[in-house]
Amino acid sequence: MDITRFCDQHTSVVGLQWGDEGKGKIVDILSEGFDLAVRWNGGSNAGHSVQVGDQKYAFHLIPSAILRPQCISVLANGVVVDPSQLIREIDALEQRGIHVNDNLKISSQAHVVMPYHSLQDKLAEEKLGDKKIGTTARGIGPCYADKASRHFAVRMADIIDSDRLRDRLAHIVPEKNAIFAALFGSSPMDWQAIYEQYEPLGKRLKPLVCNTTALLHRAMAGAKKVLFEGANATLLDLDHGTFPFVTSSNCGTGVCVGAGVPPQSIGRVLGVVKAYSSRVGGGPFPTEQENAIGEKIRDRGREFGTTTGRPRRCGWLDLVAVRYAAAVTGATGLCIMLLDVLSTFDEIKICTRYTTPHGDTDEFPADACELSRVKPVYHTMRGWHDDLKQIRHLDALPPDARAYLGFIEEFVGVPVKMVSIGPGRDETLLIN
Ligand code: GDP
Ligand code: IMO
Ligand code: MG
Repeated sequence: MDITRFCDQHTSVVGLQWGDEGKGKIVDILSEGFDLAVRWNGGSNAGHSVQVGDQKYAFHLIPSAILRPQCISVLANGVVVDPSQLIREIDALEQRGIHVNDNLKISSQAHVVMPYHSLQDKLAEEKLGDKKIGTTARGIGPCYADKASRHFAVRMADIIDSDRLRDRLAHIVPEKNAIFAALFGSSPMDWQAIYEQYEPLGKRLKPLVCNTTALLHRAMAGAKKVLFEGANATLLDLDHGTFPFVTSSNCGTGVCVGAGVPPQSIGRVLGVVKAYSSRVGGGPFPTEQENAIGEKIRDRGREFGTTTGRPRRCGWLDLVAVRYAAAVTGATGLCIMLLDVLSTFDEIKICTRYTTPHGDTDEFPADACELSRVKPVYHTMRGWHDDLKQIRHLDALPPDARAYLGFIEEFVGVPVKMVSIGPGRDETLLIN
């Protein structure tokens, strides 16, 4: 597969739905032609699965590009790093012969997910009961909240310095204890025990920690090519997603902030889109199919979360949502994923409008309350039953599958650049 035409500019890969679109697969393919790959948002809430031959990898924090020895993987300032999860991931990869320690850099400005963040995430969700967000319980929200509020934050620069870490924990943990006791009635945590557990983790990661902003600026000035790996996805974006059923980072729109690079440096934005829709956790999902159609999609697409194992909610493609996500991210090309999963239906539906209590609209209301009141209006297309696995050229796709792709491209107004018909690297069609 010749990917050179995708590697001539710094390129950002972002999800245009509710996550799990197949970003990991696209980053894995493209990283062969890039010098650096940068995760710039989120934390171990992400789950990016990559299949190489008969080997499967599941990445949570480490960029999927780590499988390419020539590519330096970076966790930039916008990521929230859970050090114990990261070390588990590094060790598991090293055991499989992937040299992570030589190829991974972590920003000293990245915030650290501490055990009280994961605990708070879990307790807060329990307390919300059926109003819960359905988070991954990885401490993402509480960690970003501490980053924004500033008083209780621990950054990588702190955790790799024993004295700084001791000072931070001696200040933070008693405050957290007071808050947790009042909110959840939970028993106090011992800051020294946390220090003893986390100080060695900081020491272990210290050789990988650096000023990644300077690293990226040097690389870009030196004509190196940088690939940006989005985690989570645009409809989960803190500002532009279906708030409050979102994650706590700007996962569609925050690449420049999260990596410390200027907007005009990014030449290409690839929006990754599943050929249908899926969502994990709570929140409105207009095209959800809680019926045999949804079950069929879930079975064929193996739609179970990479991070939590939860069954994903499944439904028809929502192009109102995708067009909105393409607009806010500035997508210049689309990668349509998991097309093979649809090779079973006589008819396929695509949502192109919503009816609302105030009339029809083709605008996406990001407000969760408003979105929960819309009803999808579908355009129906003929399906196909052919097995797509062996197909390697767009022209060889069944005409009805090509018509489906053509409809997406025209409606969204962004050209389709890649089509994926299976999890493997070679099960990918590149489009001129
Ligand atoms: P990400 O979070 O966006 O990286 O996506 P996930 O890895 O969570 O979920 C995508 C899943 O679909 C993974 O298990 C991939 O191996 C798989 N996958 C990716 N592309 C295709 C495809 O074209 N067809 C099929 N059947 N599976 C795919
Ligand atoms: P990738 O990178 C799918 C969802 C969670 C929950 C909400 C908030 O694999 O596409 P959080 O733990 O972030 O506070 O949870 O966001 N969520 C994802 N859903 N894929 C993801 O990442 C997700 N990251 C977060 O299920 O509904
Ligand atoms: Mg995923």
